[in-house]
Amino acid sequence: MNITIVGPGAIGSLWAIKLLQAGHNVSLWSRTTYNSIDLSLDGQASLSFSNNNIEKLSASDLVIVTVKAWQVEEATTPLLQYLDPDTILMFMHNGMGAVDEIATQIDAHPIVLATTTQAAFKPDRNSVSHTGAGQTQLGAFNQAGKKCTFLVDVLNHALPNVSWNPEIHTALWTKLAINCAINPLTGLEQIKNGELSEPRFGNTLTAIIEELTQVMQAEGISCSFDELETNVNKVIQATAKNNSSMKQDMFYQRRTEIDFITGFLIETAHKHQIDVPVNQTLLTQVKEQESSWKKQD
Ligand SMILES: NC(=O)c1ccc[n+]([C@@H]2O[C@H](COP(=O)([O-])OP(=O)(O)OC[C@H]3O[C@@H](n4cnc5c(N)ncnc54)[C@H](OP(=O)(O)O)[C@@H]3O)[C@@H](O)[C@H]2O)c1
Repeated sequence: MNITIVGPGAIGSLWAIKLLQAGHNVSLWSRTTYNSIDLSLDGQASLSFSNNNIEKLSASDLVIVTVKAWQVEEATTPLLQYLDPDTILMFMHNGMGAVDEIATQIDAHPIVLATTTQAAFKPDRNSVSHTGAGQTQLGAFNQAGKKCTFLVDVLNHALPNVSWNPEIHTALWTKLAINCAINPLTGLEQIKNGELSEPRFGNTLTAIIEELTQVMQAEGISCSFDELETNVNKVIQATAKNNSSMKQDMFYQRRTEIDFITGFLIETAHKHQIDVPVNQTLLTQVKEQESSWKKQD
């Protein structure tokens, strides 16, 4: 397939290399002005990708957008003029609501949402480390996206495990719930995920999960407090030594994805007239820190 990766950061570079190695024609679309970008995975020989090539973009069968949630609109909309309506758009980021914001502009395309637990890190512009193997779930955002189940084979061949989830909305909410529980607290406290199992966080985590359960149930997502709590605790244990992305973003004073994680939860809660004071406080605290830094792009 002809594939363009928009936003070749950590996760985008990982997929770019894996899809190229699987035999696809892969090009990049970045914020840089280079015509080509070399990328090396885990110290292997560098691979060269063309960058910001409009012809290759226009010829794409699949465009995978791997920017952060708050960058989706700015990264995607200028490219639409070059794309055929048949080009599949796949969005792979944490958080929810970013694709909804541009839904009317992109609805002519088949749209696929992806959520992944693969982990990657980019120590410098030309290197990427695959720091953790994980699962990737794909699902349709619109009617035309439902015809894209074949993408499971394409992606799975490049970087397993990939599966199709007809209930991707539920999978995204489940991931959002885990992010709401882990990210703001680890960011504000500057602690590793595992430290959340300390008793001092017990009440706050319980309150976050209670609020999440109410909102998710109001959204029609089948879940219980016990299920969510078990899930959150499992992830805290399994990723005990990890630094959450929000912890890292706040450490480096980079804009976080809080608006599309806790912010999305709060927006949905308001829609259902549900009070979520604990999540609201976390959002306010993270936003206060963000606004105390110099303006980020
Ligand atoms: N990294 C992981 O292990 C991981 C795992 C699971 C999910 N995720 C999620 O995946 C998403 C991406 O994460 P990441 O860690 O890969 O972030 P990242 O390293 O910051 O990558 C984002 C990339 O998008 C580029 N970009 C931003 N705006 C753009 C634009 N307008 N046009 C083209 N490119 C643009 C950025 O360019 P600059 O370099 O110029 O900033 C950067 O290279 C996030 O939602 C994250 O939460 C990440």
